[in-house]
Amino acid sequence: MMLSSVLLVVLQLCSLQLIVVSRPTCRLQGDLVKSAHDLLKDLGGAFPARCLPYNANILFPRSALSFTVANHMQCGQVLSVVNESLWEAGKIFEDPEGPFPATWDEQKVARFQGLQDRIVEGASCLSGSSDVLTPYFSNVTEILKQQESAACGWKALRRDLVRFLKFTLQTHHTCFIWRSANRL
Ligand SMILES: *[C@@H]1O[C@H](CO)[C@@H](O)[C@H](O)[C@H]1NC(C)=O
Ligand SMILES: *[C@@H]1O[C@H](CO)[C@@H](O)[C@H](O)[C@H]1NC(C)=O
Repeated sequence: MMLSSVLLVVLQLCSLQLIVVSRPTCRLQGDLVKSAHDLLKDLGGAFPARCLPYNANILFPRSALSFTVANHMQCGQVLSVVNESLWEAGKIFEDPEGPFPATWDEQKVARFQGLQDRIVEGASCLSGSSDVLTPYFSNVTEILKQQESAACGWKALRRDLVRFLKFTLQTHHTCFIWRSANRL
């Protein structure tokens, strides 16, 4: 008697797990990510020549871009890196000790931060976070801490995020949900 009810519970748990496993895969809203990309892109012009020397210390991981090229890359992993990039960028933007360049439009930055929050919230359906960008963000943070290099650090961060988000949205268009027929 006892045994069969235990078995029944076990069977029920198993089927529950099947439901969980087969639930639709997590997708992020492409329109939100594209708007975040557009706002960052609008913030400023070309990367200044005087900042070029800092490029040696700010190398957006090739691995983050090249792995996304490989089509065997699972959408879940791609979206985890998108989450990681915006999450880490969000922390930097929120840091009251390191203000973003005065030439950047505050309203655009605020809208970017709002989108970043919504995207990261939407990413809570992802399983497993990524740390592909950890070395990149720790270098950027170091450069932002020094007064003489901070402005270059911000410009590099903006450039790299714009590039990464554009590349990811194009290469992995189908990993995102699209409300409109948006194209980059
Ligand atoms: C971080 O900076 C070091 C030099 O300080 C450099 O060798 C390394 O490639 C940089 N890494 C990234 C991901 O930017
Ligand atoms: C999003 O990225 C951050 C930073 O890497 C991580 O701590 C967080 O767990 C990630 N969220 C998800 C749902 O993976």
